[in-house]
Amino acid sequence: MHTQVGIIGAGPAGLLLARMLHLQGISCVVLESRSRPYVESRIRAGLLEQGSVDLLTETGMADRLYKEAMVHEGIELVFDGQRHRIDITALTGRKVYIYGQQEVVKDMIVANLAAGVPILFEAQASEISGLEGERATIRYTHEGKEEVLTCDYIAGCDGFHGICRDAIPPQLMRGHDRIYPFGWLGILADAPPTKDELLYCRHDNGFALFTMRSPTVSRCYIQVPPDENAENWSDDQIWSELETRLGKHEGLTLSTGKITQKSVTAMRSYVAEPMRHGRLFLAGDSAHIVPPTGAKGMNLAISDIYVLSKALVAFYKKNDASLFETYGPTCLRRIWRAQHFSWWMTSMLHNLPDASPFDAKRQVAELYTIATSKAGQTLLAENYVGLPFEM
Ligand code: FAD
Ligand code: PHB
Repeated sequence: MHTQVGIIGAGPAGLLLARMLHLQGISCVVLESRSRPYVESRIRAGLLEQGSVDLLTETGMADRLYKEAMVHEGIELVFDGQRHRIDITALTGRKVYIYGQQEVVKDMIVANLAAGVPILFEAQASEISGLEGERATIRYTHEGKEEVLTCDYIAGCDGFHGICRDAIPPQLMRGHDRIYPFGWLGILADAPPTKDELLYCRHDNGFALFTMRSPTVSRCYIQVPPDENAENWSDDQIWSELETRLGKHEGLTLSTGKITQKSVTAMRSYVAEPMRHGRLFLAGDSAHIVPPTGAKGMNLAISDIYVLSKALVAFYKKNDASLFETYGPTCLRRIWRAQHFSWWMTSMLHNLPDASPFDAKRQVAELYTIATSKAGQTLLAENYVGLPFEM
C-alpha cells in the first residue's frame, strides 16, 4: 500500500491532520494501535481554546460541539479562603469550551470515515524507516498480518509512548524534561458541576480542580503522590478531600454523586527538539507533554497540526518545500510558551513535598499578585485562552 502521508496515531493530532489533508485532496492512511471503542472512550482532556474550536469549525467537525459544549467566559482561583474570578472574555475577547477529548475524537473519526479516509484500527506500527531516503516505510501489524505502508511523509502523531520520536537518531535529538513530584487523581461523577465555571484551588493539602463534562457530570482532580494507586481512595475519602481543598464559601456547596471512573496521571513537562527528521514530522504528545494544569496538551496537538498541514499543502499544491524547514521552529515557539504557562500554573497551585513555610507564603502572595491586578489577570487570561497558532 502507498499513500502520500502515513499518519501514525488516531488521537486529536492524527485525526485532525487526516481531515485537513483530505480537504485539500492529499491522500493519507491513519494507523491506530487501539480499537475504535477504546479511543472513543479514553477519558482525557476537556478544555478547548477558542482557536482550536475555530479550526474544528473550519474543517466541518464542530456541529455537535456547538450543541453540546459548555462555553466558559471565566475561571476562579480559590486560595487563602477566598475566591477570585478571572474574567477571561472581558480581558481577551475570547472564550474557552468544555467538551471532552473523547467527543472531539468521535467527531473526527465520523468526519474522516464519512469522507472515505482510511483509518485502520488495531493496526500497530512497529518500525519506520527510509526517513532520509526517497520514500518512507511503516511496518505494522493488522488483523494478525505483518503489513507495509510506503509514503512520501510520515506524521508521527503516536503520543508520548509511540515509536516515532525514537526513530530520530539520538545524536540529533534533545529531550528537555521535568518530572513533577506529584500526580492527579481524576474522577468522573454523576453530579452536576459544583460551579458553572472551573475552580482552581490551592490548599495546604494540595491542589484541587473542579471541572465538568456536562450539566450532570462533574470531573474533579486532586493532587496526590505520583505513584498513588487510585484504588487506595474510597469515594467518601475523595469527596471529603475535595470538600476540604475547596474550603467553605458562602453560596458554594460541593456537589457530590456516584463516582463512575477514577485514575491517577503522573505530571511531566517534556519537549523534543527537533520535531522533524527527513520525511518524519512529530506532532502533539509525541513531541511534547505538559502538566494538565494549564489545559494545553490537546490544544498544542491541534496547533501543531495547523502548522504541519500548511507545510504539506504548500508542498503538494505549490511544490514549495520551504515550510518543512520552518515547521519545527514555528511550533516550538508556541510550545515553549505553553510549557512556561503550564509550569507556572502548576508551580503556583501545587504543594511541593519539600516546600518550606516560606514557599507556601510566597505561593499565596504570588496568587494575590495575579488575582488582584488587572495586568496579572490579563497575563493569565491571554495564555489560558490560547496564543495565536503562529508567532
Ligand atoms: P494521543 O491522544 O495520545 O494519541 C496518540 C495515538 O497514537 C493513540 O491513540 C495511541 O493509541 C496511538 N499509538 C501509539 N503508538 C502507536 C503505534 N505504535 N502504532 C499505532 N498507533 C499508535 N489537554 C488539553 O488541551 N486540555 C485539557 O483540559 C487536558 N486535560 C488533560 C487531563 C488529563 C488527566 C490528561 C492525561 C491529559 C490532558 N490533556 C489536556 C492532554 C491531552 O489529552 C493530550 O495532550 C492529547 O491527547 C494529545 O493528542 P495526540 O493526538 O498528540 O496524542
Ligand atoms: C478537564 O476538564 O479535564 C480539564 C480542564 C482544565 C484543566 C485540566 C483539565 O486545566
